[in-house]
Parts: sequence; structure tokens; C-alpha cells
Amino acid sequence: MRRAYARPMTSPTTQADDVRDTLDVGALRHPDSMKWTLYPPDVIPMWVADMDYPVAPAILDALRERLTRGLGYHQLRGDPELLPLLRAHLAAQGLDDLPEGGIAFLPGVVPGLYAAVHALTTPGEPVVTMTPIYHPFHMAITDLGRRVAGVPLREGETGYEINWAALDAASRGSRLLMLCHPHNPTGRVWTAEELEKLRDLAIARDLFVVSDELHADLRYTGSAFEAFAADPRVRSRTITLTGPCKAYNTAGLGIGAMVGHNAGLVSRVRSAAGGLMGHEGAMSVTMWRAALSGAGPWLEDTVAYLQTNRDFLMAYLREKLPWVRAYAPEATYLAWLDLRDHPRAGDIQAFLLNEAKVAVHDGPVFAPEAQKAQYQGFVRLNFATSRAILTEALDRMATALNSAR
Ligand SMILES: Cc1ncc(COP(=O)(O)O)c(C=O)c1O
Repeated sequence: MRRAYARPMTSPTTQADDVRDTLDVGALRHPDSMKWTLYPPDVIPMWVADMDYPVAPAILDALRERLTRGLGYHQLRGDPELLPLLRAHLAAQGLDDLPEGGIAFLPGVVPGLYAAVHALTTPGEPVVTMTPIYHPFHMAITDLGRRVAGVPLREGETGYEINWAALDAASRGSRLLMLCHPHNPTGRVWTAEELEKLRDLAIARDLFVVSDELHADLRYTGSAFEAFAADPRVRSRTITLTGPCKAYNTAGLGIGAMVGHNAGLVSRVRSAAGGLMGHEGAMSVTMWRAALSGAGPWLEDTVAYLQTNRDFLMAYLREKLPWVRAYAPEATYLAWLDLRDHPRAGDIQAFLLNEAKVAVHDGPVFAPEAQKAQYQGFVRLNFATSRAILTEALDRMATALNSAR
């Protein structure tokens, strides 16, 4: 059934005929979409981190053209066009002067998380994370028989911040800090001051650092992105993970990269996965190349649209759901909402699914086993959709939540 949550809508910073404003729910709910088919058709999916927007025309054109050239093995030693594009992209984030062997391609970022835990720690050891955090961080740690040393972020005056004393205490017995920068699910972009303190800590406690910077290009902060390893002091101990799938909405074409100034460390981590990891796909390489060479304007428009959605969401919460605690994410299209003041906080995800017909991610998903109860009552909401669909979802949530209070 073709159904658009139609509500003509234009936003001040985007074109009146912006394709992001006129999404067709019937088209979005195609059988290949996990996001749109996991739940029944009357549910609006605001969970997994896919955007509802069409892929950039520059990427689609490149993929079509690639199909005319066969699908044999591509440049498995590093695509000669993608490598320089990626090097320039990383240099703009402070990761300049990467050595030969400083970039290893992966079939995705998550395999890099697993490889790092496998290579840099031994079973039984604690690995430090800042919770809540994107759940595969904890899965990589526990699936490989390590222990999560999860340090909860604390709520400061303007948003979530690092609990330095707790982080330092957790780091004492560990060899690896797994950083998410920008941070999923809170949307924090660690500031220059925070990054300096994190680097000091990594040096003082002699930690390896894996910095997942997959959301770096989806920022609303305006200033240039500063990678954790932008500072030469921590380069020899850091692996940065990156990829195109969040910024360009291409998660179905898995690819990522493991980046480091210490080529020996990159090789050690990549080798830990050996042949188990497989290689990145040819179409993925073409996609990333096209993204970096031709989809910049698309990305700029997308971030502008997301920013208006984010601002709309925050204004909506202030007006209609003022008891919900939330801070505007500085990056990502994910909002971390604290609904613990609601009487149904104990089963809030199921409540929203059944009563509002809106599917969000449940807070405890982002916590290690020992902290699940602490994040009950939180949800993560994906606002990368049209304004009309976002409005419909928020209206449904507000009606259900406020009538049960
Ligand atoms: C922080 C972070 N890392 C990694 C991933 C997944 O990366 P990939 O699909 O390349 O494995 C996500 C997906 O949402 C993410 O948010």
C-alpha cells in the first residue's frame, strides 16, 4: 500500500522540493529493508541507524557504471583512486602523514572492533568503554571472552560528559580503551579539551586506543573534526576506524578502514582476523570512491536537513514532552532520550511499539550486562527521515506517553 505520512513541509535551509521531504512510505518499506520490515506495517521505524533518504546520485551513477566493467577481483592491495581520496579526507581530520601500510580496508567497521579486541587484549582482561555505547563494542568484548569495564557518562549542565575519575580507575587494569567519537548514542563530539585529557589518560595508563570515528562527517558543530589520533603523542598506540556507511547511507555495501600511523600496529590488528575477515567488495570500493569524489554537496545538504530535523525534535520535546530529558546531539542522526519519569519507563520500548506504533532502540541495548537496569527508561530515536514522518512519529509518541501519565 502506498502511504505517505503527507504533511507538506519545507524547512528554511533546504530546498522546497527537497527529495528528503517527500519520502514515500510504500517505497521505503521494500522487502530488502531491515529497518522498514522488522516491525508490522503500522509501525514507524525509528530504530536501526539507516537514513530514509535516497543515496547520492553521484554514488548511484558510479555503481551503475561499475557494473559495465565486470565483477572480478578489484584492487585488493588498496584501490589507487580510493586511497588518495581517503588519505586527503583523513588528513583534513588531523590524520596526516599516514605511512605506507597505515590504511587497511575492512568489510565493515564492526569487524575492526572485533579484530582490535582480539589482537590487543587477552581473554579475561577488562576493556574500557564509555557507556551507553553502540552495542557491538560490548559484543566484541564479551564474544571474545574479555570483560567490559564500562564507565557511565554522567549528565553535566549541558549534556553528557566523561566521568574522569571513574575512567581513570577503570583504565588502571586495562590495556585497551574503545572510544566512540562522535559518540553513539549520545551524539557527543568530544571537544579538543576532552580529547587532550583522553590522550593524557591513554599515555598515563599505557593504553591502546581504538577510536571508532564512523559518524565524523555527520556533525552539526561547524568546526573541523579532530580525530583522536590527530595528536602525534598518541599515534603509535591508536587505531582509528572509519567508513562511508553512516554519512552516505550505504550500510548495505559493507566497507570500512582501519587507519593508523603505526603500520606495525595496523598490521597486527588486521592480521589477528587473518583470512576470517574476507575482503571488501568491489561495489563498496566504487561507492566509497564516488562518495569522497562526488557526493560532498549531497552530504552537505543531508547534514543541513538532519540539523533542521534535530532542532525540530528538540523544540517538539520542549513543547509537548517537557518531562523527557534530552540534549541536542552534536553529531549523528540519533537522539538519546531519557523517559525515566514516565510510569511505563520499565517497559518503555514495548510501550512505544505497542501504544504509539513507533519502533525505537531500547536503552539497555547500549549497556553491558551489569548496567542494563541503569539504562532502562532510555531510548535511542533515529530522526533521519522526512519531517512529515518524524512529526507523525512524535505526535504518536506524545499522545501515547502523555495519556499514560
Ligand atoms: C559507532 C558505529 N560503529 C560502527 C557501526 C557499524 O559499522 P559497519 O556497518 O561498517 O560495521 C555503526 C552503525 O551504526 C556505528 O554507529
